[in-house]
Amino acid sequence: MSDPLRPRASLRTAVVWEVLRDALDRRVKAAGRDALEVLDTGGGSGKFAVPLARLGHRVTVVDPSPNALFALERRAAEAGVADLVRGVQGDAHGLFDVVERDGYDLVLCHGVLEYVEDPAESVRNAVAALRPSGTLSLLAAGLGGAVLARALAGHFTEARQALADPAGQWGAGDPLTRRFTAEQLSGLVTDAGLAVTAVHGVRVFADLVPGVLVDAEPGAIDALLRLEAAAAEVPAFHSVATQLHVLAERG
Ligand SMILES: C[S@@+](CC[C@H](N)C(=O)[O-])C[C@H]1O[C@@H](n2cnc3c(N)ncnc32)[C@H](O)[C@@H]1O
Repeated sequence: MSDPLRPRASLRTAVVWEVLRDALDRRVKAAGRDALEVLDTGGGSGKFAVPLARLGHRVTVVDPSPNALFALERRAAEAGVADLVRGVQGDAHGLFDVVERDGYDLVLCHGVLEYVEDPAESVRNAVAALRPSGTLSLLAAGLGGAVLARALAGHFTEARQALADPAGQWGAGDPLTRRFTAEQLSGLVTDAGLAVTAVHGVRVFADLVPGVLVDAEPGAIDALLRLEAAAAEVPAFHSVATQLHVLAERG
């Protein structure tokens, strides 16, 4: 769901929303219900959870950060969907201390695997939270995109370090614990028993294009959004995307 008031922000999320919108439509038809049960593990302040609730779905957000949960509560209230959004303090490893297994039509795990101790366990837990016919939406930092971004910023040693490091870290100051290739993310999902239904590259160009080129030219943001949407589908661009999105269902 792109936000017309925040066009630059929509550049970062448009591809994911496009994929999610289709997945939601399919899941609503399959479930025979308009309101789905959604779990957003590591959902933070509700960047995805609140728009999902605005579509009428019931969303449970699990996050270890009290500040994020406070911001979530405020964001949900401002959007008029406080009754559809539930924030719970917890984490991806101890997920079933706070939510039930087999309870959700859609589980989101967006921007979390980069931080957790054991990504495989986090994905297994996300899958175990799904109803038998549920859908998993996984979004995580891409390795190649980080290498390209460090190199284009002139940080050549860091770019080479990220390339050589098994976790894809560019150095001691790197805020992320790890990054992934499309194959690694797909492997985590299939190892957890799901079938991958789509892989998309997210932010292939958006983070690399100087802001002045996007802001100066009328229509440039729309054209860039269309380019991102087209490149997201092409496997060759997955290896240079800032993020990778994997959609998966039970096979
Ligand atoms: C980059 S933010 C992403 C937030 C949200 N999913 C989004 O896409 O906007 C990462 C989130 O992961 C949460 N997080 C960190 N470690 C976690 C863990 N072990 N289990 C679950 N969430 C975790 C953080 O508190 C933070 O809210």
